[in-house]
Amino acid sequence: MDYRSGSQIREDFLRFFEGKGHRRVHSSSLVPHNDPTLLFTNAGMNQFKDVFRGAERRDYVRAVTSQKCVRAGGKHNDLENVGFTRRHHTFFEMLGNFSFGDYFKRDAIAYAWELLTSKEWFGIDKDRLYVTIFEGDAQVPRDDEAEQFWIETGVPKERIIAMSGKDNFWQMGETGPCGPSSEIFYDLGVAASESGEDRPFPEDDQRYVEIWNLVFMQFDRSVTPEGPVLTPLPKPSIDTGMGLERVACVLQGVLSNYETDLFAELVEASKQLVMASAGASSTMDSISGSPLPASYRVIADHARSATFLIADGVLPSNEGRGYVLRKIIRRAIRHGRQRGALGSFFYAMVFPVVKIMGTAYPELVSATESIKKVLQAEEEQFSRTIELDRESLMIWWSSRSLSNLPKYT
Ligand code: GLY
Repeated sequence: MDYRSGSQIREDFLRFFEGKGHRRVHSSSLVPHNDPTLLFTNAGMNQFKDVFRGAERRDYVRAVTSQKCVRAGGKHNDLENVGFTRRHHTFFEMLGNFSFGDYFKRDAIAYAWELLTSKEWFGIDKDRLYVTIFEGDAQVPRDDEAEQFWIETGVPKERIIAMSGKDNFWQMGETGPCGPSSEIFYDLGVAASESGEDRPFPEDDQRYVEIWNLVFMQFDRSVTPEGPVLTPLPKPSIDTGMGLERVACVLQGVLSNYETDLFAELVEASKQLVMASAGASSTMDSISGSPLPASYRVIADHARSATFLIADGVLPSNEGRGYVLRKIIRRAIRHGRQRGALGSFFYAMVFPVVKIMGTAYPELVSATESIKKVLQAEEEQFSRTIELDRESLMIWWSSRSLSNLPKYT
């Protein structure tokens, strides 16, 4: 496997599917258009929801995207885990290929295998890959067809595992297009295992990392007083999602997404900014070579989501999307303060974020100054709140201790 930067991986994915007749479509906004069921765009298929349902037509039947996604608040909420695990993010990029009633399972499986394993493309060792299929439930039968196509593609039967709907039936929310899925996992090796034990797939979720989810879109889910109902879509379709950060981790030979080039510079920038804000007195995190605390990963991750959300028009507020953005910004600031930051630092993270992501998402470049101003204002306001809280706490404690002072006569 050759080293590929995150930008190259994104571009290679898009080019591969363009070569297979897919239209390259720009990411939609993080604020879902006309969809009150969704807080933020959480998957590549969101912008095509009505196309899958047959309610909207486009002048293409195959598409490929690199989609901005936020999973914080609502379904798929990862906020509290972020920074403390190798793979949770509030903002991430989802690479996806889509078929709107054109090709279905057989081609989706063959394309995925070619991109992942061909030497001309990602060149991943086949012996490191496992796939899963839907085991079936009361409403939808076991996906024998997908299993057969994987075998025809060259995957040994013992590397194909049937799993339940929790993992292998994908839906974007309570309602909307959905269907059984096949996931592709990469074995990072026993070194990635938390227990250090050599366990078989799928018993170790640190070692076996899911890199691609192929969804065989077949139903539109609605909720009725009698319970959920699955109505067949007009035409079976394909929706896939590959987390760019995860596949970068695999192709760059590291164990954590935060060690990839998409993050490493941001984590370092967050450390530098916090240390500068902490002043010369702080040497807390200045020893090079020691593992960095989770706080810097939190700040790096949250800087990406805050930058992208503000670029898409979300502003910090006390409700809805703005409230989630405010929570993200404040969580990052609190982590900076835990590492010793005394003044503002977070707003400056916009610059490294734009440097790394601005070519793929030009909307960030034109908005850089305004994003910085929004973050700066929010950071100053939050600092005042923290200061007021601190002062009232001091007053409360001093009044308590004064009234409790022993009386000497
Ligand atoms: N829509 C496929 C996924 O998010 O995994």
